[in-house]
Amino acid sequence: MKKFELELVVVGNVFLNATHFLLILRNPKDDGYLPDMLPGQFVQVLIENSPTTFLRRPISVNFVDKKRGELWLLVQIKGEGTQRLSNLEPGDILNVLLPLGNGFTMPQQEESILLVGGGVGVAPLLFFGMLLKEKGIEPTFLLGARDKEGLLELDYFKKLGRVLITTEDGSEGEKGFVTQHSILKHERFDRLAVCGPKPMMLAVAHYAKALGVDCEVSLENLMACGLGACLCCVEKTVKGNVCACQEGPIFHINDLLWQI
Ligand SMILES: Cc1cc2nc3c(=O)[nH]c(=O)nc-3n(C[C@H](O)[C@H](O)[C@H](O)COP(=O)(O)OP(=O)(O)OC[C@H]3O[C@@H](n4cnc5c(N)ncnc54)[C@H](O)[C@@H]3O)c2cc1C
Ligand code: FES
Repeated sequence: MKKFELELVVVGNVFLNATHFLLILRNPKDDGYLPDMLPGQFVQVLIENSPTTFLRRPISVNFVDKKRGELWLLVQIKGEGTQRLSNLEPGDILNVLLPLGNGFTMPQQEESILLVGGGVGVAPLLFFGMLLKEKGIEPTFLLGARDKEGLLELDYFKKLGRVLITTEDGSEGEKGFVTQHSILKHERFDRLAVCGPKPMMLAVAHYAKALGVDCEVSLENLMACGLGACLCCVEKTVKGNVCACQEGPIFHINDLLWQI
């Protein structure tokens, strides 16, 4: 897919809790043009005027509203770069490289799909859910967080499909990890799509492998260029070493050399 470097304008920056915020961007030029993006793809944002954030930061496409010409990024404050992004205000300009990487596989019409997200890992699942709904497939979302405050964009997810929740402290939904949710004992899905912390993805991958269910995960390897040039995001796979920024970030678990 053709990649673009766009100067997008911030039209909204909303804190969803103490550490997560939703950045809403628009293209102020070219009649608001935004390129087509696949669910699971990411963008590389440039954080200017800081010696410690020289490298762009990879952030998943959270949502694309083609009618309004909006690109949403759901961000967790981790360090200097994301902290600076959290300070952006409406009218500020953000240089963004997009769309990068590959996307989740679209299921067949008759397939059932479970989208599993943990923490800020829910980010790519909203856009995926929207495209599934457009295709006439109602997804089930299984969303996990440490506590109720950590559950992000729930109202949006609920508009797209069935939403199941786990929190580690039991403050919302079932208590425990996503992999302990009762749905996994009672229902079979044809396909799983997963994004979140590595231990969570490993546990879901283990479950999927045991049942022989197709399962794709979104890797968050450290990235610098995002374009397959610096080799800092290499992942070992059955096809050899590949750049997660180009061949991924979405991988079928059967292609990874994970011990599951
Ligand atoms: C494909 C992909 C999609 C991502 N999507 C999202 C998203 O939608 N929302 C979100 O909040 N975060 C996302 N991340 C993680 C996000 O890129 C990092 O949290 C961010 O780069 C941290 O930058 P920082 O300057 O705030 O922190 P730093 O001070 O640079 O580092 C803090 C921590 O963040 C991690 N980190 C730093 N740089 C990177 C990097 N280039 N790639 C991955 N991890 C890094 C490191 O583990 C480090 O411990 C994604 C990462 C990848 C690879
Ligand atoms: S981030 Fe540079 S090769 Fe993947």
